[in-house]
Amino acid sequence: MQATTDSHAYRASLLWFPDTNSDQIHFEADGLLVTTRGSDGVSRITAIGDYRALQAAHAHLPTTDWRGYWIAPGFVDTHIHYAQTDVIGSPADGLLPWLNDYTFPQETRFADPAHAQSVAAFFLDELMRHGVTTALTFATAHSVSVDAFFNEAQARQLRMISGRVLQDRHSPDGLRDSSAAQSLYETEALIQRWHGVGRLGYAITPRFAPTSSEAQLRGAGELAQAHADVWVQTHVAENADEIRWVAELFPHSRSYLGVYEDMGLLRARSMYAHCLHLDASDRDLMAERGASAAVCPTSNLFLDSGFFDFTLAQSHRLKHGLASDVGGGTSFSPFHTMHAAYTVARQSVGKSGHSLSANHVWWLHTAGASHALGLDGVCGNLNPGCEADFIVLNPNATPLLARRTATANSLEEQLFAMVVLGDDRLIKQVVINGR
Ligand code: GUN
Ligand code: ZN
Repeated sequence: MQATTDSHAYRASLLWFPDTNSDQIHFEADGLLVTTRGSDGVSRITAIGDYRALQAAHAHLPTTDWRGYWIAPGFVDTHIHYAQTDVIGSPADGLLPWLNDYTFPQETRFADPAHAQSVAAFFLDELMRHGVTTALTFATAHSVSVDAFFNEAQARQLRMISGRVLQDRHSPDGLRDSSAAQSLYETEALIQRWHGVGRLGYAITPRFAPTSSEAQLRGAGELAQAHADVWVQTHVAENADEIRWVAELFPHSRSYLGVYEDMGLLRARSMYAHCLHLDASDRDLMAERGASAAVCPTSNLFLDSGFFDFTLAQSHRLKHGLASDVGGGTSFSPFHTMHAAYTVARQSVGKSGHSLSANHVWWLHTAGASHALGLDGVCGNLNPGCEADFIVLNPNATPLLARRTATANSLEEQLFAMVVLGDDRLIKQVVINGR
């Protein structure tokens, strides 16, 4: 029977968000998760719940017994640079010297397809090792860097989004586009080649306003309007020197965010990294347009850029999800990012002595991140219909975690200890597309 060969059951503790739009976690201590592969080759979750309630109907299925471990949604990273894998941990005075001294020279190397391929392979394996199953990642200003990345993602059957970086000024030789027209032509060709192949998605990727001419940004905006289901990704309002520079380069725009609005780049499925120094009008405009913020706390601490204001993001209904921003960010680990988000949120939420809950930061890196990407019900959760990308956690992975787990009095306490103490050692297994 088709169902017996294409379906699989897993017995474990289960953690997920029954309502994708809420950070309320459901925890099933003894649960059953069932996956079924569709005719499109994608494995999806078909049942989830209490083992005793579901067991009889699924007793005929091959079943993996992971009792003692937790199955949870794969993490979703809303902003990362695969080509900055070798930049991580490069200290600098701030964003602009860090870009010039370390980042641009490394990215120049991605004109070489063999280099791009080997870094893409390492990067994807490293993401998976850390439990990240979907990411929105920058490639570099070379089409071959996108081809290399998507080839490697496809070989692993991953749901990944990426795009060729657009930068036609204020960039070094080897990384500067020869013309806006050529870069846009290549972008269109890459959309046709990759968007919707398997579980891959394309993102139109102007680096940030200072490194694009007005013609390039306008052209990117036109592509963004022509391809509504393609993503847009860029950076905004990260650093004081950067913001001053944008004001000089684009004196007619209302704000830094206003430059992107003026160029037609603010829309649903657009992801703006950082969003640290926005004003009320900027936040309202993003919410109105359905744009999202990628919150990068380890990067913002490392480069001394500032603090994301979680309170204002929430009150202005600005969608946001967590991101590592490697290589400005200091870790591939979602646990390190969630911990840093908690620390940073003390500056806004935590003025009254507390910060974000463990549930909330976990949601911001799974179902909430998917929501920010417009992928609700597709990834970052375990509701029926979601794709079968999930992780298996060991709450006793280290001596200290085992000791702390034994004394946790509630799920919230347990999750909080994982957020603070966790890293790749917690990830026992990663299941991608049901495998
Ligand atoms: N702004 C423009 N490019 C970059 C980048 O690569 N990293 C970060 N953090 N900010 C940027
Ligand atoms: Zn970035």
